Amino acid sequence: MIQCRSAERIRAPAIVRLGQDRAPSMRNFDETTITEAVLGRLTGASDPRIMEISAALVRHLHAFVSEVRPTVAEWQAGIAFLTETGRMCSDTRQEFVLLSDTLGVSMLVDAINHSTRGTTESTVLGPFYVEGAPTMFNGDDISAGLAGEPLIVTGSVRGGDGAPVAGALVDVWHSDGGGFYDVQQLDRAGGLAMRARLVTGVDGGFRFWTIKPAAYPVPHDGPVGRMLQKQGRHPWRPAHVHFMIQAAGYAQLITHIFAEGDPYLNSDVVFGVKDSLIRPFVAMAAGAAPDGSDRSSGFFHLHYDFALERDPECRQADLKVAAR
Ligand code: BEZ
Ligand code: FE
Repeated sequence: MIQCRSAERIRAPAIVRLGQDRAPSMRNFDETTITEAVLGRLTGASDPRIMEISAALVRHLHAFVSEVRPTVAEWQAGIAFLTETGRMCSDTRQEFVLLSDTLGVSMLVDAINHSTRGTTESTVLGPFYVEGAPTMFNGDDISAGLAGEPLIVTGSVRGGDGAPVAGALVDVWHSDGGGFYDVQQLDRAGGLAMRARLVTGVDGGFRFWTIKPAAYPVPHDGPVGRMLQKQGRHPWRPAHVHFMIQAAGYAQLITHIFAEGDPYLNSDVVFGVKDSLIRPFVAMAAGAAPDGSDRSSGFFHLHYDFALERDPECRQADLKVAAR
């Protein structure tokens, strides 16, 4: 038998029956009712994730304002700050990402999305990654002739089980000894420099020559720089080399290796340092280098063995195969 809905159950909700004009909960909002009223307007969202994100945004934003109790002038100053942040963005400058980085939000998103079990830890991408850097061979010098202290970087790419990953794409980039990236000094660098894409050999190994990077301040001539100053913070990052590593069957790894002993390791302005990512830039005397070449003067050596996490989708596929 078909179940009929009772007249009571299909009756229109009270607010509709009263009419919008007479619905007491639809106007006269105050500090105690405004949040619920806004949340109530979200029920029409067709995508449940949009609804969840919007509701959390409203709840937390209202809680923030209730806690801070801004004056109207302070609220206007906040709007002006965000407006200027947007105006500062261009093809070569992303002030909103910098705001996210310096408030620790980028590293929070990173922590939520990357496990650290037995594989190399990740950290922020930063604004100086350039797609399509020159492809080089293992052993090449990627500095494009820029002056600096010679550095050889050696390492390997492995799976979490320690097996070498041959054919992994290793994208590297870093600053010079003055703390500047090529894209900040294209005239002087004469084009892209201190960045390259290398491919690991059958043993999972890679190596390249370059110049030693230095600590540097993030761009601080805009609203984020002013914010840092007002918060009593410096804009510096410890010296590091960036890596983006991709290999079939493994999750992409975005990370840096930081210079042991750098004075900014404990106060990185973007909160990106992890102990597991710190290594010495070892000073070496003239003579045989780790790549077998003979050096007539001293140089530095940095080594890191990366361990990649299996791509979660591949892991699912493996499990299905194993279950058959
Ligand atoms: C960087 O390491 O390149 C970087 C990261 C976050 C903000 C600014 C720079
Ligand atoms: Fe950097």
